[in-house]
Amino acid sequence: LKIRLSDYQPSAWRIASVELVFDLDIASTEVYARLELESASATPTPLRLDGEGLELIELRLNGKRLGPLGYRVEAHALELSDLPASCALESRVRIRPQANTALEGLYLSGSAERGFLLTQCEAQGFRHITWFLDRPDVLTRYSVELRADAARFPVLLAGGNAVGSGMLAEGRHWARFEDPHPKPSYLFALVAGRLECLSQPYITADGRAVTLNLWAEADAIGQCHYALGALQRAMRWDERSYGRNYDLDVFHVVATHDFNMGAMENKGLNIFNAKYLLADADTTTDEGFRAVEGVIGHEYFHNWSGNRVTCRDWFQLSLKEGFTVFRDQSFSADMHSQALKRIEDVATLRRMQFPEDAGPLAHPVRPAEYAEINNFYTATVYEKGAELIRMLAARVGPQAFRRGTDLYFARHDGSAATVEDLLAALGEAAAVDLTPYLAWYAQAGTPRLSARCHHEPATRRYVLRLAQHTAPTPGQAVKHTLPIPVKLALFARDGRMLPLRLAGEADAVGVERVLELTDAAAEFVFEDIDEAPIPSLLRGFSAPVILECAMPPGDLALLLQHDADGFNRWEAGQHLASDAFRAAHAGAAQYAALAAWTGALGALFAQTDFSDAALLAELLAPPAISELEALVEPHDPDAVDAARRRLEQALAQALGASALAARYTALHAAEQGAHDAPAQARRRLKRRVLELWALVDAPAALAAAEAQFAQAAGMSERLAALRVLLRHGDAGMRHGTLTAFRARHGQQPLVMDTWFAVQAEVAGVDALDTVRALLADAAFTLRNPNRVRAVLGTFARQNRTAFHRADGAGYALLVAQLQALDQLNPQTAAALAQAFNGWARLEPKRRALAESHLRALAATPGLSRNLADIVQRSLA
Ligand code: ARG
Ligand code: ZN
Repeated sequence: LKIRLSDYQPSAWRIASVELVFDLDIASTEVYARLELESASATPTPLRLDGEGLELIELRLNGKRLGPLGYRVEAHALELSDLPASCALESRVRIRPQANTALEGLYLSGSAERGFLLTQCEAQGFRHITWFLDRPDVLTRYSVELRADAARFPVLLAGGNAVGSGMLAEGRHWARFEDPHPKPSYLFALVAGRLECLSQPYITADGRAVTLNLWAEADAIGQCHYALGALQRAMRWDERSYGRNYDLDVFHVVATHDFNMGAMENKGLNIFNAKYLLADADTTTDEGFRAVEGVIGHEYFHNWSGNRVTCRDWFQLSLKEGFTVFRDQSFSADMHSQALKRIEDVATLRRMQFPEDAGPLAHPVRPAEYAEINNFYTATVYEKGAELIRMLAARVGPQAFRRGTDLYFARHDGSAATVEDLLAALGEAAAVDLTPYLAWYAQAGTPRLSARCHHEPATRRYVLRLAQHTAPTPGQAVKHTLPIPVKLALFARDGRMLPLRLAGEADAVGVERVLELTDAAAEFVFEDIDEAPIPSLLRGFSAPVILECAMPPGDLALLLQHDADGFNRWEAGQHLASDAFRAAHAGAAQYAALAAWTGALGALFAQTDFSDAALLAELLAPPAISELEALVEPHDPDAVDAARRRLEQALAQALGASALAARYTALHAAEQGAHDAPAQARRRLKRRVLELWALVDAPAALAAAEAQFAQAAGMSERLAALRVLLRHGDAGMRHGTLTAFRARHGQQPLVMDTWFAVQAEVAGVDALDTVRALLADAAFTLRNPNRVRAVLGTFARQNRTAFHRADGAGYALLVAQLQALDQLNPQTAAALAQAFNGWARLEPKRRALAESHLRALAATPGLSRNLADIVQRSLA
């Protein structure tokens, strides 16, 4: 059963306002709803409300109780016929939060004795709470009353402004909330339980006094300070960068350990996976801090890109998610380093989105159809969607982009919009026709951009020929050409950038410029070029494509040394490492790319004045396994892993044990546990140096790692040491460190997730036994998504040789766990099953094994729609 974009119809009914009353309890909650309904036409069609798993107690129309003949209840709908064009419908239903293991709708976080109640409604969780038009283009004014036992649920929260509270009989109390901003049902939220609060006043740029409240359970409230600071930075940043101000008296953010995704932007009441809210130096790595800041920004920015202007339908999901990811990426880049953030974001895109776009689950940024919308919260919708906004922003330039977003927010405030609406506003503000870019939203698959160049000494011309090609993807056999902006520079052999004058132009236009490839192929001719230059193409990753440009190792090494574009400098190293990987994988003993890669990095490493330690750390890492897998087809994960190891080994040898030891010692001496950017950069480099050192002098590196583990001032240092000890240490060392780590952090769920994950990611013949032992650990549970991701997600996605074991035992293990998990939590099961993506590109033996396990999974009786959708599309 597929929902199609082309079938979109506006709702035949509106809901002007809704009043909700919750009589909350853990086992059973009663929900009263009063909907003010208005038919869109004078001759109303039957009203069909969404609802799932609701126990109907009573229905009233305009105050009169409806008998069983007055309505019809179907599996997922309530139908009422012959309604007047405007009427009030009241319903009372019972729901069961404690039994809700899917974590969608109203559910319990933690234990029945101590936990709290909360909701998750996006995309279609509200229909698990009450009968409603559960679609994003139905915007309604909400008035909410919560009632509960005052001792068990002292804190009662819902979105909007608090308008009253008081006591009831029998120790119960109530609290009322009104949200002045009409919103779709997916942005509704409530929270009830024992929570502590960290509070801070904030004045918006346009003068509104706001209270910022961060909520967590008592043992975690002390870890909310960093997030509170990040929230204020995000609010200021959005005021300055986009002119967006917050719009309620209070902004609540709540942390829960039980959450299917990262976080949720419910209006006025954000709910966060604790992983993205709680942070302190003893338990959180530097990367963890940056993730908290990024997600805080992301959810806050949704208040405008998502909430004030929402999506017409779920096909437009990237309208809010792609745009908001772009906004959070820009925010993080402004808070830290532009170049590093770009490197991280592109690396993520290549690790997560490129494989998705190349496999059976490939779909456009704006899908044309879906069977289960929760399966489309993907890297394509989020990360590729962000790249599309980035291209549009670059195309129109910063001033026009700001005018365009202002226009978009003003024009669509309080309503539900489409991707076309955003492109129209940006285009109007810039006086540019952006409609050609709509093709990017409709077409799946990563375009391949091939570049070939030659120099003509006689004419002093340099000719660049660009061509694009996108391979067919499931359901899209024919691909169209896309507009591809290619930012470039040309380097002379001495590292100088050359002035760029295209044939027909009177003067050179700077040393960097953007060419737009709009056809299948085009030639660009540069004049006044004396000798063959070195092209630096797709600078800053100006389009989400795979660049194919054969370059001599020496040219890449020069870019690695000299390119001023931090991203392309890193990219030159990745290109060299990929070339070296291909040669290593093909069995070559010596190859130019490897020598150039290790040589250039050796030279950079030896430069004591190389000031950017964090960039150096990134330069010293070859591409991830999931990127390298795409370079050989079919592939054997053992062979890919072995070739990548040879690369790292060669790099470590080229740098040399004594240089690595010396650098480690110097960085170690500088370490004081500070959290400023230089300290974080030092730790990042130190971690990489320790890992490389262990490859060439394991005993010395292990001794250093043991000392570092024992003395670590924070989690970054402790974890870096632990990882090295787990990979290179003997059984006693491994056991001792893990025991010490658990003794220290056993009561901290997020750190225990790390304890599980670092073990699940270690490759080796006994890797599967390790995973089995972790699954049998008393602290493991399928009921907690973070724990599931820590063990099973890490195993299936990060530990490629273990998951893809030649005997199929890794597949069997995952399938058995998926079958059990699907009974409890279909969303998390469906996300985990995507680890099978790419199975068809495996060498024949593994391919057959993976397929038969997927088929067995498909044949499981009672599979959820979520998991069935993933498995069926994976097999199609
Ligand atoms: N809108 C949330 C975000 O900030 C994601 C929520 C998705 N939840 C889900 N069950 N599909 O990205
Ligand atoms: Zn989002």
